[in-house]
Parts: sequence; C-alpha cells; structure tokens
Amino acid sequence: MRRLWRSVLDALTPYDAGPPLESLAEELGRPDLVRLSANENPLGPSPRAVAAVAREAARMHLYPDGGSTALREALARRLGVRADQLVVGNGADELIALVAAAAFEPGDEVIVPEPSFEPYALGATLAGARVVPSPLAEYDTDLDDVRRKVTDRTKAVMLCSPHNPATTIIRRGALLAFLEALGANAPLVILDEAYRDFCDASDYPDGVTLLARYPRLIVLRTFSKIAGLAGLRVGYAAASTETIDRLNRVRAPYNVNRLGQVAALAALEDQEHLERTRRLVIEERAFLSAELTKRGYPFPRSHANFLLVAVPDPAALRARLLEAGILVRDGAGIGFPGHLRFSVGLRETNEKLLSLF
Ligand SMILES: Cc1ncc(COP(=O)(O)O)c(C=O)c1O
Repeated sequence: MRRLWRSVLDALTPYDAGPPLESLAEELGRPDLVRLSANENPLGPSPRAVAAVAREAARMHLYPDGGSTALREALARRLGVRADQLVVGNGADELIALVAAAAFEPGDEVIVPEPSFEPYALGATLAGARVVPSPLAEYDTDLDDVRRKVTDRTKAVMLCSPHNPATTIIRRGALLAFLEALGANAPLVILDEAYRDFCDASDYPDGVTLLARYPRLIVLRTFSKIAGLAGLRVGYAAASTETIDRLNRVRAPYNVNRLGQVAALAALEDQEHLERTRRLVIEERAFLSAELTKRGYPFPRSHANFLLVAVPDPAALRARLLEAGILVRDGAGIGFPGHLRFSVGLRETNEKLLSLF
C-alpha cells in the first residue's frame, strides 16, 4: 500500500476554534453575543487601521510586499533594532510554525511549559521533534525545571510571558538568570510576548532589548491583541539577523497580505488607541480582580488581557454566561480543569459577567 500521509498526523486532530462568532450568535438568537473566549481587543481596531484597509482595498488584486518592508522598517525604528532583525508573519502563529520548520528535526527535544499555548507543542510534534513538557508550578513557569530538562538534544525552549492561559509572567531577574545559565551553547529560546502590552509590572523584562546579549533568543509579538487586528493576522519575530535569515528561508513568498500590512502600520502610528486599549484592560482587569476576590474566587494575578479563575462548576457557569450572551472558555480544554478563562471586556460586559458569578 502506498502510504500518503505522515504518520505523525495520526496523533493530531484539527484545531477546534469553535463555531464562527456570527453563526453562534444566530444559533443562540443573541445578536449581542460578546466573545470573551479568544482574548480579543474589547475596543476593536484603531479607526486609522480601518481607514488604511479601506484605502488599500482597491489594490487587493496586486500581490503584497513579500518582505513587509515598510512595516518592518517602522517596527525597527520603534524597537531600536535593525529591520533585518525582524520577520513579519501571518499572525504570531505562523512564526511558531516557521521556527519549527527551520530548526526542528527528528531527534530534537523541545521543552514546552505544560499547559501552555497549544501551537508550541503542535509545531514541534509536526516537525518530528520530541516535546518535553515542563509542568507549571501551580500557575508559574518553572524555570528551574525547564533548566534541568535542557540536554544536548534540546533544540529549543518555548516560553510565554504573560502566559496563556495562566496569565503569569516571567520576571526580569529569573529570565536573565535562566538565559545566563544556558551559556553560549544555548538552545533557541522562544519568548512569546503576545500579551506584553497589558503587563504593568515594573520588573517585566523587554525581550527585544535582550537580543543583543542573547543571540539565540527569538521574541514573538502580535498585532492581534493590543492593536485589535486579530482578523487580519499580523505578528512578528525579533531575533538575530542570522535567525531571521533562516526563518525567511522557510517563509512563503507573500505570507502577510496587503490589508494586514497597511493596517498594522496604521495601528503602530495610532499610539493613542494602543494606550487607550492598554489603560482600559488594566483598569477593567483590576475591577474584575477586586470583585472576584470579594466573592471568594481564587485566581492568579493576571498580567494579560484575560483572567483564569477557579470556579466550582465551570461547565454550568459557562452555560449560564452563554445564555446571558457572554462566551467564555472552559479551562478543561486548555489544561486547567476547574477554571474558566475569559477576556477583559468593556465595563458593561464585565458587570454582566460578574452578576452571574
Ligand atoms: C500566547 C500566544 N501567542 C501567540 C498567539 C497568536 O497570535 P496571532 O493572532 O498573532 O497568531 C496567541 C493567540 O491567542 C497567544 O495566546
């Protein structure tokens, strides 16, 4: 028999993102359904990004700039790195896949905190590498455990800060000690900072500023969260020029579409919208946290735009919330049974959510 498909696929199931928001709203007869299950931006996109997309729409018959040059140059200026230290992807999701395609081989080990964002393990598994899980210490990334698991076969370590779904961060001192301990012959360290803009802790490190000292570090960021462009799929990796050169070798020629590129550029220029989003999330997160604490619910302090809260009967509470028009994530599907994960919404939504807790 001719074997058509890679045997590694037998162990995988297609990612289930749930029904589209619009069909779920229709099915429930709730056109006002608010999705708090996907960590999206409660304010929506910047009006300047919307205008940029409208202006660009008539050029959609033309291929985009395959290198996302204007966006990389704007980001480089903003971040204080060279444009050839950046690659833009079809969401940060694509960058995780590009790292796996460029670096991982059968026999490699990839250390992945468990639980964590599912695509890390998926990318490694698909590439034929062995996933070495490092259990969280309750809600925190356990860098001592990760360090102990590094061997000669370790190709990469995946880190996420703020962590999805645990909402916790890796603090500056701990991260630096970890990177130092790995030494010069370190594996790749992928530091996913998708939610960095929502963190206001003073000892939260900026991964990009560490690149000069740690050339094997790869920092991932996205326009999906703070900039509200999740539907357009734009993320980027910042790393050494050598790493970026390798990632570009496995990147599709036109991986980021025209509308995404112009929207991201416009979003980057709309500092006020970025700041408004950040302020809203931080204020509403504090409101939700205080109210949930008053009601006796335990949860780790969140540094992201979502909370992970322990509740006695998550399925029942999720059903009640859905009936009231609020969609949240059951922790059971993301490694935290006994919890609900929900994004920080607008005040009105947050009050409605709290009224059902
Ligand atoms: C930790 C983390 N990294 C990356 C991503 C993917 O971001 P993007 O929408 O840019 O693919 C997400 C999305 O939810 C995430 O939670």
